[in-house]
Amino acid sequence: MIVLGLESSCDETGVAVYDTDRGLLADALHSQVDLHAVYGGVVPEIASRDHLKRLLPMLRSVLDDAGVDKPDAVAYTAGPGLVGALMVGSGMANGLGLAWGCPVIPVHHMEGHLVAPMLEADPPEFPFLALLVSGGHTMLIAVEGLGRYELMGSTLDDAVGEAFDKTAKALGLGYPGGPALAELAEQGNDDAFAFPRPMLSKPTFDFSFSGLKTAVVIEIRRLKKAGEFDERRADIAASFQRAAVDSLVGKAVKAASARGLERIVVAGGVGANRLLREEIRRRFGGDVYYPRLAFCTDNGAMIAMAGALRLADAAPAATIEARARWSLDGLRPPAG
Ligand code: KG4
Ligand code: ZN
Repeated sequence: MIVLGLESSCDETGVAVYDTDRGLLADALHSQVDLHAVYGGVVPEIASRDHLKRLLPMLRSVLDDAGVDKPDAVAYTAGPGLVGALMVGSGMANGLGLAWGCPVIPVHHMEGHLVAPMLEADPPEFPFLALLVSGGHTMLIAVEGLGRYELMGSTLDDAVGEAFDKTAKALGLGYPGGPALAELAEQGNDDAFAFPRPMLSKPTFDFSFSGLKTAVVIEIRRLKKAGEFDERRADIAASFQRAAVDSLVGKAVKAASARGLERIVVAGGVGANRLLREEIRRRFGGDVYYPRLAFCTDNGAMIAMAGALRLADAAPAATIEARARWSLDGLRPPAG
């Protein structure tokens, strides 16, 4: 079966074709980063308009690359995300479903991230612990199977990607800050500042990043006053990154061992962070899986993959679904 996947929940347009026999056939991604950078964050109206502009030409070229005229099903991101941006992908998916006479599959964006490692040559088997880390989410989930999710912990305040972005902004780095901060951190000393490892000593699996972010902002203010900011920027970035990664890895390893899970899947944009990938591998005794770097951040391939796993849920185009909020642990296994 051939599944077309459309992603348009935020500031990336993604289109991909996945074949359940042959794997990923083609994919394309367009990032809107340049459009939003001048505003220091994503502007929803601009995001929706750019998805409108990009989706059709990308669709044509991906179908061409895949050598496919018409897929067997169209999967699209139905939420969570920016509602106007979601409506573009959802409207297109349902229109295509009607025109082609093929069923559509509404996909949960975070389930897409969760199954992204299954696009790789050595895919994880169920059950596993998932550490989902993106710009909007920080979650530890015990995954028994597709749609069988138990939320073990999440952030009480900022998502970890948001903490990276806000700290990067305070350091004078551009948007999106995560990758820029990680790059600057490579030149710094991660022992230079003793920033808090929020919640690490608490017995729950929840996270908190606002205290860490505030500690960094206070330190930056002090350094600026002392005229030492420029020479210490990389040390701040490295110390912040180390503290954030320690919190994530510490909790993830504890959660996996609490459930006797021998596999950890790391997914979502922050999963592209090199230190996080290395540390979790170093400190966890079991197997660690993550997607290739390009499929850590938003993309169409993960949506096509999730659609392929949820073919049992495919239904004729009927309603255009676009949910700004949608909890992952409320999902069910595929029908049938
Ligand atoms: O999954 P994603 O592309 O979009 C959401 O669904 O949110 O994640 C984007 C987030 C941003 O906060 C970005 O700064 C962060 O992932 N990110 C990183 C890195 N690459 C992307 N954070 C830390 N290190 C990175 N290398
Ligand atoms: Zn995402």
